[in-house]
Formats: sequence, structure tokens, C-alpha cells
Amino acid sequence: MIGDNKELMAEIGRIAEVAGYLWTKGWAERNGGNISVNVTDLMTEQEKALPALGAPYPLLAPMTALCGHIFYVTGTGKRMRYVAQDPFAHGSVIRIAVDGTSFDIIAEQPIPSTSELPSHLMMHNYLRSCGRDNKVVLHTHPTDLIGFTHCQPFLDSEKITRVLWSMIPECRIIVPKGIGIVPYEIPGTLDLALATIKQLEKHDVVFWEKHGILAVGEDIIECFDAIDTLSKSAQIFFAARMAGYEPEGMTDQQLDDLVLAFGL
Ligand code: 13P
Ligand code: ZN
Repeated sequence: MIGDNKELMAEIGRIAEVAGYLWTKGWAERNGGNISVNVTDLMTEQEKALPALGAPYPLLAPMTALCGHIFYVTGTGKRMRYVAQDPFAHGSVIRIAVDGTSFDIIAEQPIPSTSELPSHLMMHNYLRSCGRDNKVVLHTHPTDLIGFTHCQPFLDSEKITRVLWSMIPECRIIVPKGIGIVPYEIPGTLDLALATIKQLEKHDVVFWEKHGILAVGEDIIECFDAIDTLSKSAQIFFAARMAGYEPEGMTDQQLDDLVLAFGL
């Protein structure tokens, strides 16, 4: 039934497109990474009221800003390369309960949601409660960016932001709020979720130490582009290092000129 909803299916198509990029980029080994997209505005009233496909799943904390909201969420253990081919066989549409304390899977198949759902929903909840029109949380495992998080001096928001911004002007423009850092936490935990939402006060992209990257935004293509641009900067940095020299990086003045030129 939801397959007849053209707007929803177009958004699901964009999710599949990005899932394919994550795989071809080499950022999605096995089941690495996960995606959630708020599709509430794309659903008809009838679709929003679809019956649950099984028992409700309790949430670790109440999502008071998400009551009744509907998300497409990739499934736990599912591979991005297959999400790209068939998003409804490797993810599901979930509806947060009216009291925000649980969720139901409502379409198309009862595929259990990603283990990172606590972080994803807490991020959606936090951003909505701040009035930010956030629809997307994208988590992935880019080799080059994770590499930086294995080096203590780079586990510093200002330092890593400055290095990556200064590799190429686009990085300053496309990731204007820089990078937040979350020290290592066990994947899928509430502690990881809580540490992550703290970083969203200032940033739209967060690095999880020795694990991966998260981007939030209004549009899944833009979330992908932000991570892709950071990855490009990381590759320039490492390529220079491998060639045996320290990359000079853009100067403070050159970076500041971009702020003026692009109204950042
Ligand atoms: P899931 O398969 O549960 O989405 O986990 C993948 C992952 O990247 C965990 O951080
Ligand atoms: Zn991960």
C-alpha cells in the first residue's frame, strides 16, 4: 500500500541511492552503518494509522518530541549494499507511540531496527525539540575519517576541524559547523546516544572515536555530501603525509575569507 505513495517512494529511492554510495565508497563493511529518515510529512493519514506488524518495541528513554512520528530505519545486521537494492527487505517503517515510550513497525516487513536506534532517535528528538527541521541521521564507517580518531591529538574538536577544513575550501563551506568528537562508547548504548546529542548543540557532524561518523540534516544527499567532503580532506592529508611531507593547509586568513565570501 505505501508503495503507491510517490513522494514517499521517491524518498526511499534517495535512501537506497545513498546506501549504494556508502557501499561503493568502502564505508560499509558487512552491516556497518545505519540510516534513519523522518518520513512523517510524506505519509497520508491512512498510512500513518497502519496496524503494527507485531508487538511494540520499548525505547530506552521517552522521545517526547517524536510522538506519532514515522521513520524509515535500516535493519540491524543488514548490509548497505542490499539496502541499496531493496530498502524494504533490509529496513522498515516505524511509528513512535503517542506517549513516545515505544515504537511499532508498520511496514513493509517486520525487520528489527538498527542497534543504533537509541542514538538516532535521541538525535531526532533533540533536534526537533530545538526547532531544527532535521529529518535524517546517517551513520557510516569511512576508513580515513575513523583513522583520525585513533590519534589522541585529533580527538579534539577544534584541532580536527581546523585540519580538515584547511585541506580544501569546499570543506569549510560544506561543513560550516565543524566536527564534534564523542570519546569511545560501546555501540548501541544510551551513553553513546547521550554523548552524541551533546555534540549536536554545536555541530551537524560527529565523530565516534574508533568507530564511525554521524551526520544530521534535512536531506540525506546533503548528509552524505558532508561526510564525503570530510573524507576527501582526510585523503588529501594522508596522501601528503604518505608522500613524505606535512601538508601546508590553508591559512587562517584564507579560511576566514570563505566565511565572508559565502556568508557562513
Ligand atoms: P546495525 O547493523 O545494528 O545497524 O549496526 C551497525 C553499526 O554500524 C553499529 O554501529
Ligand atoms: Zn557503526
